[in-house]
Amino acid sequence: MITTITFGTFDVFHVGHLRILERARALGDRLVVGVSSDALNISKKGRAPVYPQHERMAIVAALRCVDEVFLEESLELKRDYLLRYRADVLAMGDDWRGQFDGFSDTCRVVYFERTPAISTTAVIEKIRL
Ligand code: CTP
Repeated sequence: MITTITFGTFDVFHVGHLRILERARALGDRLVVGVSSDALNISKKGRAPVYPQHERMAIVAALRCVDEVFLEESLELKRDYLLRYRADVLAMGDDWRGQFDGFSDTCRVVYFERTPAISTTAVIEKIRL
């Protein structure tokens, strides 16, 4: 049983989110997703997500490629989360390339190319115009 873990905000869910979760799931048998909390987004990005954390978690949990979700409350707890969910693989988008290499003593670290031309920020901008 190979467990893959990934992390993200997954606000205003879009096809780039779906593609990375599908590719992460295909690396193993079980996909666990850490959805970042509203408080974490406010402190790191300076703004609250459009959808509150319980709605973002519900959307991600409902996907066929996702087996389990949890609330990521601190960026500093990454290693604890990897151990708690017994992750064999950590999968992240390549906007994070290199930043998680320090965890390669705990699990395999994989970076996926982002789906081009879409992001939550871009969707919000498009709706605003
Ligand atoms: N992601 C992706 N392709 C995209 C957008 C996101 O593969 N076009 C991946 C990111 O690399 C990350 C995960 O999806 O691993 C969650 O990303 P998140 O930050 O929640 O979404 P973004 O659309 O990048 O949000 P924002 O515009 O607020 O940065």
